[in-house]
Amino acid sequence: MLKRIAVLTSGGDAPGMNAAIRAVVRTGIDMGVEVFGVRHGYSGLINGDIRQMGVREVGGVLQAGGTMLGSARCPEFKTVEGRNQALSNMAEHGIEGLVVIGGNGSQTGGHALWKMGFPTIGVASTIDNDLIGSDMTIGVDTALNIALESIDRLKVTASSHKRAFLVEVMGRDCGYLALMSAIAGGAEAALLPEIPVTAEFVANQLKESYARGKTNGIIVVAEGSHLSTEELLAYCNSREESLGFEIRATTLGHVQRGGAPTAYDRILASLLGSNAAEKLINGRQGVVVGRIANKVSETPYEEVIGRTKGISPDLYALAERLAR
Ligand code: ADP
Ligand code: F6P
Repeated sequence: MLKRIAVLTSGGDAPGMNAAIRAVVRTGIDMGVEVFGVRHGYSGLINGDIRQMGVREVGGVLQAGGTMLGSARCPEFKTVEGRNQALSNMAEHGIEGLVVIGGNGSQTGGHALWKMGFPTIGVASTIDNDLIGSDMTIGVDTALNIALESIDRLKVTASSHKRAFLVEVMGRDCGYLALMSAIAGGAEAALLPEIPVTAEFVANQLKESYARGKTNGIIVVAEGSHLSTEELLAYCNSREESLGFEIRATTLGHVQRGGAPTAYDRILASLLGSNAAEKLINGRQGVVVGRIANKVSETPYEEVIGRTKGISPDLYALAERLAR
């Protein structure tokens, strides 16, 4: 059984990361283990920005978005020298294992450290929901709800002016957030990296929905889509006369990442954070902890690293069918 562990958050922050940190710290202390927090992801590991955490320090953070430990993208950690420095800083503190809360890149970092012989375990957390090893990753539910609130508001103003909005959502190279926003927000079409469609197709969807009597139109564009929002806007504007709708574009961007975590994300993060800490302390390592088919799961790094989760063709078909 390990006696000292550390926890960090890395990559894009995701709502619920605080609940996961709290769960790691409190579970560790409950098991009689000393828990250290690393500031700003792998940068803090390299710079030695590491300190012990107590149960009270993680009080009052459950409801806050972002991450109390800070996060970072740290190119230096991709080098062996960087990781050796991190190992030597952890050894100095007597740290025997590390919980990595983050997405694909962050789990790749955890894997790299693990391959060097250091015990690491991952907690699936990214608003993109592209990580293999969890049906839902921590943060995606909140990000989706924020996107929906924006779409609902855009529909109100769109209806007043007979306009259609192109709404760009985040997700890196994954269309999950865009597809779910399209279904739950009642969009005319969704542009996803996984399913390329032409600008002509999108414009025709708008034209037909105007002809069916719709007073507003929503096209959700995934940021990683093959056609950029600007390209699509330019094309639709060139056909504005015949489409019926006036066209506007809104990019939601980082707004989606900054919200207070939903109940779902708080519960998921508490569950995964606590399980990951317990597993690591009991000697489990080299896996990403997530939730698959309503059960806490552990997926070996080999199945996670270098791959991404696809989107469901059934859900895409549903979005298309209901856009009438
Ligand atoms: P996310 O975890 O949200 O996908 P990034 O892709 O930006 O975020 O990755 C976060 C960090 O993980 C990187 O800045 C880097 O420090 C670390 N990382 C990513 N890929 C590797 C790698 N191949 N080897 C070691 N560390 C990595
Ligand atoms: O991975 C989360 C995410 O928000 C992606 O959706 C997006 O592509 C990226 O991070 C943005 O990165 P940054 O915060 O560095 O601009």
